[in-house]
Amino acid sequence: MNLQQEITHAVEVLRAGGLVGMPTETVYGLAGDARNAEAVGKIFTAKQRPQTHPLIVHLADPDQLTEWAREIPDAAYQLALAFWPGPLTMILKKQAHVLDVVTGGQDSVGIRIPRHPVAQALLQVFGSGLVAPSANKFTRISPTTAEAVYAELGDDVNMILEGGACAVGLESTIVDLTAKQPVILRPGMLSAEQISDVLGFAVQIKRQDHPGDTRAPGMHHLHYAPTTPVASYGTKACLEQVGPGMALLHYSNLDAYELQGVHKVNMPANATDYAHELYQTLRAVDAGNYRRIIIEAVPGGADWDAVRDRLLKACGSL
Ligand code: TXA
Ligand code: MG
Repeated sequence: MNLQQEITHAVEVLRAGGLVGMPTETVYGLAGDARNAEAVGKIFTAKQRPQTHPLIVHLADPDQLTEWAREIPDAAYQLALAFWPGPLTMILKKQAHVLDVVTGGQDSVGIRIPRHPVAQALLQVFGSGLVAPSANKFTRISPTTAEAVYAELGDDVNMILEGGACAVGLESTIVDLTAKQPVILRPGMLSAEQISDVLGFAVQIKRQDHPGDTRAPGMHHLHYAPTTPVASYGTKACLEQVGPGMALLHYSNLDAYELQGVHKVNMPANATDYAHELYQTLRAVDAGNYRRIIIEAVPGGADWDAVRDRLLKACGSL
């Protein structure tokens, strides 16, 4: 099948209430018809995700925004113009028809217009909203390849569209625009600084100090997590903690250290490339039957915010 035939088939699957693995530039999503409660229900079952965790509605074009959201502030249009299509999700007040199963019963809805050409093609032909959480089991690592979607969900997904390895590699930045002061609920590779520059005022990343707040499952204390125990330390402590039968993800040059029996994975030293490789690497080492995965803590700069967030969650310490 060529891409056009695959898209036609995927749209048939979606219209019949089925689920499709959809590549996006961030991570692969598990897509279903946002207007079909039964299809949305299948997503929660396949992911083993609690019903209270809302889903993002994906659209092809900003013109569709008013079909799904109301009382859209100017800031949302400014961000849409600057960053859509792209790795940005906006939380806006919802239109009345948006299903409670999509929003977790809240009066708001998450909206994203992805940039990936396969997602764009699918959404354009489908012509309406597709809910698409990351195509992984609840609390597990988001898939960044079509193979990883199959490994996570197997036959719970009717069809997987091949879209190569995701360019960004981490989930979209989520900005909540329902309050007076916009706030970032989930940091992503689209940075707080880029968002602040467009809006002309500083937008903060919400501190995730309410583990009981399940509005965003990214706020669950354990998330994006391998099944192998994971811990993260500064460079010196990593070298003390690591031992035979363990995997060590590092970005510093550790050539000078012997580290017998340690599976060393040399990660990129810049945040963009690190983010692109992180989930694929975690998935690979998780399959390697190591006793522990030790991760060298990443630098403190703002460009590492999203990576740091995901590493803390993989360790269950956020
Ligand atoms: O990059 C992404 O955003 C990917 C791709 C597939 O688009 N999707 C994704 O979906 O990461 P998911 O379901 O794994 O994460 C969506 C996040 C969740 O943390 C959810 O709670 C939050 O968005 N969210 C959705 N609607 C919300 C709402 N109305 N209020 C607050 N948070 C919301
Ligand atoms: Mg997810």
